[in-house]
Amino acid sequence: MGGYTGEAVVSEKSAAVVAQHLDPDRYEVHKVHIYPGDWYLEDKEGTKWPVDMNGFSVPMNEEKISFDGVFNIIHGSPGEDGKLAGYFDMIGLPYTTCDALTSSITMNKGYTKAILSGIEDLHLARSLQLFSHRPENVQNVLSQLQLPCFVKPNNGGSSIGMSKVKRAEELEEALIKAFQEDNQVLVEEFVTGREFSIGIYKAAGQVHVLPATEIISSREFFDFDAKYIPGVSEEITPGRMDEREVERVKQIAEKVYLKLNCKGSVRMDYFLEKDTGKFYFIEINTVPGQTETSLISQQVRATGKTLKEFYTALIEEMWV
Ligand code: DAL
Ligand code: MG
Repeated sequence: MGGYTGEAVVSEKSAAVVAQHLDPDRYEVHKVHIYPGDWYLEDKEGTKWPVDMNGFSVPMNEEKISFDGVFNIIHGSPGEDGKLAGYFDMIGLPYTTCDALTSSITMNKGYTKAILSGIEDLHLARSLQLFSHRPENVQNVLSQLQLPCFVKPNNGGSSIGMSKVKRAEELEEALIKAFQEDNQVLVEEFVTGREFSIGIYKAAGQVHVLPATEIISSREFFDFDAKYIPGVSEEITPGRMDEREVERVKQIAEKVYLKLNCKGSVRMDYFLEKDTGKFYFIEINTVPGQTETSLISQQVRATGKTLKEFYTALIEEMWV
């Protein structure tokens, strides 16, 4: 848990939920916090023990704690962008999330869209990827895309640094805000329709698609507060779709999971366009939130499973 980005606060909340539901009869759980220059295990008394990064073990008084596997719950870098995955691969420690290549590509919203173009029945909002902050960006965006549009840090999460731009004069400020978070920015046309988010995971070698959640945000979009303050958005699981739509989006989501070579539990966000019934892929989160208000937990419960069963399935899958 933890991480090197603004999503560290979310990670701490997710980790608390995960730890609470891990099966104590099966697993001995140790909480390891990973912050820049400060990797430590926190014991039950709150004492912090530094991690020996050369092999990921923790010397504690007479004993040394080592691990059989990692339940990775770090959103953003270094947990979701492949850095920890690469490190764990090199030291031979299994982990619950996608490998380094998949994690690093999927952390980048623009590169992910490039890989997914061509999947049958899946649509992508028109977008422009900006690689540096320049005055001409404003004119380029306005000449190539229609408003409203979303301006997003390309490698961001939890909507940090993101804006919805309705009028041309708002664009420059939105670009400045996004470039403060990242050196790449994605500008994407708005799709008029309803938003759905779908959890998918692999267990016992099978891909399972969870029921989609429909998100109705009382804010301009599903921003940080709408995501994490209870009551700021209405979330309906399963969302309102007819049987054919449920089947279509399930097939799309499964194809995306396989094409990106995902592992563990991921969550994908889609818009269902109002006039055309087309599904637009927005993004994928390979370390999706597991906080009290997070969508995956709602979706797991909607299937009749407990979080304990769900997390056990993810852990058992990492050793396969
Ligand atoms: N990036 C946040 C944690 C999510 O996708 O749930
Ligand atoms: Mg995200």
